[in-house]
Amino acid sequence: MLRLREQRRAKREEGTAQPQQGEDKVADQTIRDTVREKYGEAAKRVLEGKNAECCGSSCCGGGEKDPISSNIYSANETSVVPEGAVLASLGCGNPTALAELKPGETVLDLGSGGGIDVLLSARRVGPTGKAYGLDMTDEMLALARENQRKAGVANVEFLKGEIEHIPLPDASVDVIISNCVINLSADKRKVLAEAFRVLKPGGRFAVSDVVVRGEVPAEVRRSVELWIGCVAGALEEREFEALLRDSGFTDVSIEPTRIYRVDDARAFLEGAVLDVEAVATAIEGRFMGAFVRGTKPAVAG
Ligand SMILES: C[S@@+](CC[C@H](N)C(=O)[O-])C[C@H]1O[C@@H](n2cnc3c(N)ncnc32)[C@H](O)[C@@H]1O
Repeated sequence: MLRLREQRRAKREEGTAQPQQGEDKVADQTIRDTVREKYGEAAKRVLEGKNAECCGSSCCGGGEKDPISSNIYSANETSVVPEGAVLASLGCGNPTALAELKPGETVLDLGSGGGIDVLLSARRVGPTGKAYGLDMTDEMLALARENQRKAGVANVEFLKGEIEHIPLPDASVDVIISNCVINLSADKRKVLAEAFRVLKPGGRFAVSDVVVRGEVPAEVRRSVELWIGCVAGALEEREFEALLRDSGFTDVSIEPTRIYRVDDARAFLEGAVLDVEAVATAIEGRFMGAFVRGTKPAVAG
């Protein structure tokens, strides 16, 4: 679904396809509503003191055995944030550990969820810096703000909004982080354009996400259930690099941090309406948690 829509958008931009914006807008809104509903449910579970386990049996479920989001943070990191932020962690990497944040910097986390990466960033940039979290789901924002209150940090602000329309001025952020969210967006080109807009010249894009390596069976791509579970909307790595360059970023790179194996695939496909064994074998090694980097040039090129 994603692929078709993005191909159609690309054709429109080349002037070789008829406009279908209305159709695209409805589909994009449906995806956003589904994602918002699922993550709202996940946040409510954590507010009730349970593990997030957002998407039923598939995905970024936050459980200890989850192949994507388990064992991401060190004990040093989990010990300095409230339990609610750890329970709500639904990421697939540790962007703050890789982003080389410096004291005094302004950081923005796209799709901040329960706030774990925002709270960790706030410690790294210190009292002279600032960490923003941006999320569209009210329940996640409530949870993140509760976690901020428990952590007692002042240099943090959680904003309500969509990552396709970032509510911050141009050139106002030093570093954009994100953890397993861009794969959920129906309009990744817009997300990257917005990230580029709000970064200061010389600013860094330093994001963890699920990325696909090579071709993946169509059944997987078609499944919205898997999509909202962080998988079927993932970009292919070369596509991701190309989109970043098209958006103006330089020094683009994608570094695998965890390559999912056949057993992991079996775990995240469990419960899907698919021939789980056949698909799991076919996608062995094709999905990975990756650290995606880019830089906004210091001088416009
Ligand atoms: C997989 S969770 C990741 C949360 C957090 N980054 C973490 O590592 O725990 C996805 C989060 O992104 C938010 N989200 C998804 N799509 C979004 C969009 N288009 N705009 C804003 N927030 C979005 C969801 O509400 C949810 O809180």
